[in-house]
Amino acid sequence: MVANIFILTGAGISAASGVPTFRGADGLWEGHHIEDVASPEGFARDPVLVHEFYNQRRAALSRVNPNRAHAALVTLERAVIAHGGDFTLVTQNVDDLHQRAGSERLFPMHGQLTRARCTACGWAGDAPPLLSSAHSCPACARKGDVRPDIIWFGEMPYFMEEIEERLANADLFAAIGTSGHVYPAAGFVREARRAGAVTIELNLEPSAIRGQFDHAIEGNADETVPIWVDGVLGQLHGDR
Ligand code: APR
Repeated sequence: MVANIFILTGAGISAASGVPTFRGADGLWEGHHIEDVASPEGFARDPVLVHEFYNQRRAALSRVNPNRAHAALVTLERAVIAHGGDFTLVTQNVDDLHQRAGSERLFPMHGQLTRARCTACGWAGDAPPLLSSAHSCPACARKGDVRPDIIWFGEMPYFMEEIEERLANADLFAAIGTSGHVYPAAGFVREARRAGAVTIELNLEPSAIRGQFDHAIEGNADETVPIWVDGVLGQLHGDR
């Protein structure tokens, strides 16, 4: 019986929507070393570059749409809930495609492009379309302390308590479109296994941690995820 489903997604699920993944073949993220644009040190060194980088990513959201994989996970969520089960979707992605597709039990553990926060007073809210060091915090009015609400290397991801609790109760764990290079997310499969969950990876190619999964399906997520979801739905309905 499948009662508690835990899904982890990464950049690969948004690839078919036209959002570039992080680790391209050249090891760069859209021409930048990842640590230059995704670390507090990189931000301190060159805030203009980092603001500009995220302003471009934020603007690009208006040119992309959720794909069939995002939609299939919404179908799965609704079916599992209707069936009396529990559903958790944790994404490492900072795009808003799961939200726009209609996912509700969603935990964006690495933050969101559409959000900003102030490092001086702790304010967090909607990001303006263009963020810069000249921006004043809407709460404390200080200039220069509002940054993208994105978890960078060395920072603690959001929702870790909720995630740990749900992993401990998972019956089925699926990782979709993630390279398995970044922790703590790359460690979730081990925790799910420890909880007795069946584990599966759906990725374009075997990830760095492929060996830790019970099963794997290779291919484009927008093709493999809807088919896999159909199979899980069949199992759910068979449980009735
Ligand atoms: N369908 C399925 N998988 C795909 C597709 C696709 N169409 N295209 C690419 N992939 C796979 C790649 O093979 C790769 O294994 O998705 C994975 C994407 O890996 P990364 O670019 O490393 O992205 P992700 O795992 O989400 O990165 C994790 O790293 O830089 C940080 O915080 C950032 O959240 C990010 C984290």
